[in-house]
Amino acid sequence: MRLRKPLLAGLAVVAAGLALVGGLGILKGAVPTAEPATFPAGDAKRGAYLARMSGCIGCHTDSEAGGAPLAGGAPIETRFGSFVPPNVTQHPEAGIGDWTVADFARAVRQGVSPEGDPYYPAFPYAMYTHMSDQDVADLWAAFQTVAPADGGRKGNDLSFPFSIREGLHVWRALHFEPARFEPDPERSEAWDRGAYIVTGPGHCGACHTPRGLLGGRDGDRFLAGGSDGPGGAKVPAITPEALKEAGWTRDGLVTALRTGLTPEGDSLGSGMGEVVRDGTAWLNDADLEAIATYLLEPRNPGTPTEDDAMWNGNGMHDWGWHGFFAWPMLLFLLVIVLAGYGLYSLGRTAGERRRPRPVDELTERYLRGEIDDETFRQRLRALRDAEGSGR
Ligand code: HEC
Ligand code: HEC
Repeated sequence: MRLRKPLLAGLAVVAAGLALVGGLGILKGAVPTAEPATFPAGDAKRGAYLARMSGCIGCHTDSEAGGAPLAGGAPIETRFGSFVPPNVTQHPEAGIGDWTVADFARAVRQGVSPEGDPYYPAFPYAMYTHMSDQDVADLWAAFQTVAPADGGRKGNDLSFPFSIREGLHVWRALHFEPARFEPDPERSEAWDRGAYIVTGPGHCGACHTPRGLLGGRDGDRFLAGGSDGPGGAKVPAITPEALKEAGWTRDGLVTALRTGLTPEGDSLGSGMGEVVRDGTAWLNDADLEAIATYLLEPRNPGTPTEDDAMWNGNGMHDWGWHGFFAWPMLLFLLVIVLAGYGLYSLGRTAGERRRPRPVDELTERYLRGEIDDETFRQRLRALRDAEGSGR
């Protein structure tokens, strides 16, 4: 008994230490790569177009409540609590007016704030990481033309343990990899453009790719749909096979993405309606055709359809990233529990050691004259006997 407790405590401390070292190792691998020292000159018009394509305006504007453009969006309700897209106008305090273009690039392509804090993946930066330096410069130029407005930024209201932002360091380390878009020279220009839009700024996989069980990569299910859509809606598969099976044509897709109406005359709803209204409805014909081309043509065999960052971007929206989030969180909690148990047990064994031994207690009482010689000797013998038989 005496031996086991310190042993257990020691083991717990060692385990916690190992978990921590492992965790730190993972974290070290996720140190954000530096953004370039200089960016090309931005084109605000192109940036405004890209902001529509990316949904920045839709998410960061509370249009229903009459909010100013980019002055903060309506809360995104999730099972973890609500995420509030912050004010990203040029207001120096309420918004991001005091940021540099590199700060902006780090936030959009790496999900890290100027202070070094990670952002929640409800902000689809894991897909925006595909954006080029020119894209970021254009977006930044466009954001600077937006009037500074205060308001917004009420802060997220998340339940524990998701409210611990530090947990995201682990999440990021496991599920995020910065990666610029690489066109495939073997495919058509339209296909490459479509691939860029769908896997990058368009962040279609955020809803259309199902989440993995343990956060593992499952490129096979890229855009394969899921049952955990906005408001519990079913999100249809938009793989080439699924689209063909459902009778979609290139023209049908282009029209649906522009108008929100399917060839049958149904309107696209449950989240897709907003994607069309705030995003794809604003795109030019060439880009809509590029998306349709990419969605309908078979993807490259043998090559992953979605790289790590893309796959992990899946389900990052409000409705489906718990699968990714849960297990790094568990790891994080395990470290805390093990460390806590170790410290607690160490404290207890230390406390036990401080408790006076019966022999010392007896001697003390004898020296204080509380018991006479005879009683002392008798009790001492009794103690020795008890100890001897105990061994
Ligand atoms: C699906 C909704 C959504 C979309 C689309 C979106 N964002 Fe956000 N964004 C968020 C949320 C939510 C946060 C806050 C994340 C957090 O609290 O960690 C955020 C945070 C940010 C921040 C950090 C602001 C700060 O004060 O720290 C910037 C900058 C930003 N977004 C820019 C953009 C840009 C640029 C785009 C388009 C390319 C974009 N966002 C698209 C939801 C969105
Ligand atoms: C916010 C989540 C979300 C995002 C982001 C999103 N979709 Fe959707 N999408 C949906 C939902 C939900 C439906 C089902 C709509 C319905 O049933 O009315 C849908 C339906 C569709 C359909 C119709 C498929 C069918 O067979 O009925 C197409 C095509 C489509 N989306 C393409 C896209 C493309 C392309 C993108 C990226 C530019 C995208 N979606 C981004 C949620 C989303």
